[in-house]
Amino acid sequence: MQKIYISELANYVGQEITIQGWLYNKRSSGKLRFLVLRDGSGYLQCVYFKGNVTPEIFELCDKIGQESAIEVTGKVKAEPRAVGGYELDATNLNVLHETHDYPITPKDHGIEFLMDNRHLWLRSSRQVAIMKIRHRIVKAIRDFFDDRGFTLMDAPILTPAACEGTSTLFETEYFDLGKAYLTQSGQLYAEAGALALGKVYTFGPTFRAEKSKTRRHLTEFWMVEPEVAFADLNDDMDLAEEFLEYIVQTVLTDRAEELKTLERDVTKLQNVKRPFPRISYDEAVEILKKNGVEFEYGNDLGAADETIVSNQFDRPVMVHRYPSEVKAFYMKRDPENPKLALAVDVLAPEGYGEIIGGSQREDSLDLLLARIKEHNLPQAAFEWYLDLRRFGSVPHAGFGLGLERTVTWICGLDHLRETIPFPRMIYRNTP
Ligand code: 4AD
Ligand code: MG
Repeated sequence: MQKIYISELANYVGQEITIQGWLYNKRSSGKLRFLVLRDGSGYLQCVYFKGNVTPEIFELCDKIGQESAIEVTGKVKAEPRAVGGYELDATNLNVLHETHDYPITPKDHGIEFLMDNRHLWLRSSRQVAIMKIRHRIVKAIRDFFDDRGFTLMDAPILTPAACEGTSTLFETEYFDLGKAYLTQSGQLYAEAGALALGKVYTFGPTFRAEKSKTRRHLTEFWMVEPEVAFADLNDDMDLAEEFLEYIVQTVLTDRAEELKTLERDVTKLQNVKRPFPRISYDEAVEILKKNGVEFEYGNDLGAADETIVSNQFDRPVMVHRYPSEVKAFYMKRDPENPKLALAVDVLAPEGYGEIIGGSQREDSLDLLLARIKEHNLPQAAFEWYLDLRRFGSVPHAGFGLGLERTVTWICGLDHLRETIPFPRMIYRNTP
């Protein structure tokens, strides 16, 4: 018997085939038993009619529990009313692993229970849809850069120094060499890459010992970081908006079914087209004041502030030129106003907050040295990074996109924890 996947059913209408998978749910009605099978590629209703199968098989249909591993055989029928558009006129059932009392049932479970059972929860249709969208976003990210002459150049995970402030560093002993830190960002290495290869990107896990419990923070998350030589802040913003438009439009086209499963309002995503509004930090502060927020000029925007600003627009908004005091040491100052950094944050619509942080980098050796001192960073650990300003220094810029924040927004979820297979948060490092 031909063994196929549910996703291939269209090619087998009228033929007899076998599919291996798990029992998703079932119901019965008189002489009929309906088993819904899932195999990772889709869902298929298998119809067992008492007159068509042996009594043993008909009994098995009643006996097996949710998530039993099974092999079904039957004839494929087009059935527009069924899930996926096909149905199986089943003739055989082979139970590979009989299961009873599967802990996750169609009833409501609390979130902590589901998180404790994350290894099983991943089998539910909603989680499968999220994982498929995450995967499509990852592929869109790679395709976007690969098709535009970028070279993937991954950064190390064990690093000798901080990149994004010392308050969120995970520390570990490193043999005889003292302390090492889990990377907060691959950026510093991407800069070395940009001066070697022109346009590069890093894409991998990054770590922040975030001490607050929020919907937007994981301690381990994935970041993609492009870095471009001979580029300024405007080039950086051009790249960021083209990139986001590409990701969102690709997912809308290729993962429509999964977005439907999640009941995502896709009209909001359809707006994500260039050009995106670009406003300065000063203009963002004006918006906050107009909305009655008591905001102290010079502070960073908090989550609530970001929501108010982004709610003024129907697509992502780029906020540029923040006070340099609230931004990282490596950002170049605005020559027109040295109190400002040539930074940009991209805020997603619908209150999803910052998904991209980027900047033009300080390319002067003297100014960068001064920043390292101001930030009390250990100069010795940054000597290699300073070399990039000693030898062939050029204007360069880049940004980092948080993968899980992007998945959260595109899927329309209210917490990051469902967007990564096994989330790591301040209060959870299992399963
Ligand atoms: O704004 P961040 O801290 O920027 C950087 O790390 C730069 N070095 C990037 C660069 O210019 N190459 O982080 C970038 C993005 C944020 O906009 C957010 O989407 C995500 O990374 N992010 C987090 N996502 C989940 N959990 C956390 N704790 C995150 N911290 C940052
Ligand atoms: Mg940021």
